[in-house]
Amino acid sequence: AGPCDIYSSGGTPCVAAHSTTRALYSAFSGSLYQVKRGSDNATTNIAPLSAGGVANAAAQDSFCAGTTCLITIIYDQSGRGNHLTQAPPGGFNGPESGGYDSLASAIGAPVTLNGQKAYGVFISPGTGYRNNAASGTAKGDAAEGLYAVLDGSHYNGGCCFDYGNAETSSRDTGNGHMEAIYYGDCNVWGTGSGSGPWFMADLENGLFSGANPKNNAADPSISYRFVTTALKGQPNQWALRGGNAASGSLSTYYSGARPSVSGYNPMSKEGAIILGIGGDNSVGAQGTFYEGVMTSGYPSDATENSVQANIVAAKYATTSLTSGPALSVGSHISLRATTSCCTTRYIAHTGATVNTQVVSSSSATALKQQASWIVHAGLGNSACFSFESVDTPGSYIRHYNFGLQVNASDGSKQFNEDATFCPQAGLNGQGNAIRSWSYPTRYFRHYNNDLYIASNGGPDTFDATGLYNDDVSFVISSGFA
Ligand code: AHR
Ligand code: AHR
Repeated sequence: AGPCDIYSSGGTPCVAAHSTTRALYSAFSGSLYQVKRGSDNATTNIAPLSAGGVANAAAQDSFCAGTTCLITIIYDQSGRGNHLTQAPPGGFNGPESGGYDSLASAIGAPVTLNGQKAYGVFISPGTGYRNNAASGTAKGDAAEGLYAVLDGSHYNGGCCFDYGNAETSSRDTGNGHMEAIYYGDCNVWGTGSGSGPWFMADLENGLFSGANPKNNAADPSISYRFVTTALKGQPNQWALRGGNAASGSLSTYYSGARPSVSGYNPMSKEGAIILGIGGDNSVGAQGTFYEGVMTSGYPSDATENSVQANIVAAKYATTSLTSGPALSVGSHISLRATTSCCTTRYIAHTGATVNTQVVSSSSATALKQQASWIVHAGLGNSACFSFESVDTPGSYIRHYNFGLQVNASDGSKQFNEDATFCPQAGLNGQGNAIRSWSYPTRYFRHYNNDLYIASNGGPDTFDATGLYNDDVSFVISSGFA
């Protein structure tokens, strides 16, 4: 059985079921998600390898070979058509044309399930999915349950990495108009014990960890790589339950009455569905989603416990984030452009600005050092890499407003993540493309001889599609210095 078969048996059927990694019903063999590739904007649907099985990641890999791919649709497996697509503007605009949110890279969150490769949905700030016309989801004070499997190590303090029930207008219409899973270390509203990240409920104008709107010490900081979050609500009753998605059972972090603050009892749920954003399309948060559902009715703890056992049996595990020619930690490297204009230019820096400059073995020592980098394990994720400047020890290549800079490390989580990059095989067949860990739609790109992290066809000038594959592909050699 799949999670939704278990919810059905418990009398609380799924009314929305989303996953890019696997079927959530044992009989489901339809499309899990759609991807769109950058080379020609063609789309294809990805289905499970067999009914009830893991997504066919190899079909995605072959469709996306030599180009970029975005996740355009996350299909609803419940049969109700509650699909998730690019979120529209609301109280806040997204970064894309028309105020839409960005779409997730199709390769930002690779994992294995029972040893088979699949991809989750890696949400960077600015990315979001929504359905403002969902059918069958809870409205008003009606009962519902939700669960989601997330990456416990990918979060931030922005508003709001959510999955669940929100406003149909994409605007903040008041307390109690949402009931969504939240994950992160935002401490503007509620908090749990320690410094986070926490699983909380976004009930609109507040992230709640329990009855007290400020703090519930029973809501723990989470350190599992894969985390199960289960939220449910019914008239004057709600619960937060969570655990390690790779082993063991769920714990109850809160179960009891609605917050006493006005507006949350009764609830005024509207029934839209969001992923990666706040109810008003706040787009400051990051996180990774693998699978999740919304039910009709308040699931029993026993039903949720069986769903947790099913998730554990799916055996989520990590896999490599890199491909292409290998890099060695401790080595000194130089990176040569491959666009026909520029094949004698290397990634270098002038002060804080990262650019390309013509460098050769007969260049001055200072220039050779400016064009040489020391490879480190990724400061924000040790499965990827960071690049320290040879002539400025302690300073690393990081992105800032999507430009590349050489800055002294301040040791912060933000800096470490901005300075972490995951090389993969070059998109034009040469060398490596250097993907941003935190914005996996974006790669090192030279544009008018300056360096950016650029998406293929994104909103900025440096995101232009012309020459994209060449501009993002660099041949890595041992360093000039
Ligand atoms: O409740 C927290 C956030 O507050 C909601 O997600 C958003 O709609 C509002 O800004
Ligand atoms: O480069 C994008 C973002 O810009 C970085 O993550 C952040 O440091 C800055 O706000």
